[in-house]
Amino acid sequence: MRPRVLPDYETMSTAAADVVASKLREKPHAVFMIPTGTTPLGMYRGLAARHEREGLSFARATFFNLDEYLGLPPDHPASYHVYMQENFYGRVDVDPERVHVPDGSAPDPEAECEQYERAIRVSGGVDLCVLGIGRNGHIGFNEPGAPFDSRTRVVRLAETTRRVNATDFEGERAPERAISVGMRTISDSRKVLLLASGANKARAVAAAVGGEVSEEVPASALRRHPNVSFLLDRDAASALGDSASEGEPP
Ligand code: PGA
Repeated sequence: MRPRVLPDYETMSTAAADVVASKLREKPHAVFMIPTGTTPLGMYRGLAARHEREGLSFARATFFNLDEYLGLPPDHPASYHVYMQENFYGRVDVDPERVHVPDGSAPDPEAECEQYERAIRVSGGVDLCVLGIGRNGHIGFNEPGAPFDSRTRVVRLAETTRRVNATDFEGERAPERAISVGMRTISDSRKVLLLASGANKARAVAAAVGGEVSEEVPASALRRHPNVSFLLDRDAASALGDSASEGEPP
């Protein structure tokens, strides 16, 4: 697996939107698993623009989000429900019946996790999973140490993750737990696309691409996946040496 390196964030985001759009053209009823965070914002903007300009339709596709904070109602401003509505679902023609975000306020979180995993299975499985990467190498909210065979479950957030995400909570305590799809759930996807931008991701990217495959670096698990692409901007690739290629499409 040779990561593809693009000059900057905008170009990386356009390339990511291209991958999603071409999957959608090839299979309009495709199943996507998609991330939140700052990294995919440019991709979502690109997809919304294609919907508006070119009529790219998402209406037959199914979407599963990777994670949600535990204990947050769906209308909390820092919830991923709100993020997704504002940045993507509310800006394109998705069918609300085909959109899934884990319910962080479910009275029985364990049952919610089981139901979420079942819904993924019933959908026929994920065609394309798009991921960001945490500074500690996490994918979804699978923090270092997450078992490679894990499924959707309640997880405890790493302190570093809580610190990074604290800015979204404006003075409130950031949640300590979340619901996250599992490592195995991600690995079962037919194709995986990981996006990384910025120098603060360079170490995690280098560990994932060139270090040992280890549960201590969750993203390293992707090296065992038969159809994975890493799409990086130059800063995120800056610790990789020459193991990356400029240009080749994912
Ligand atoms: P970010 O988060 O896109 O906000 O950097 C990525 C992640 O933590 O997975």
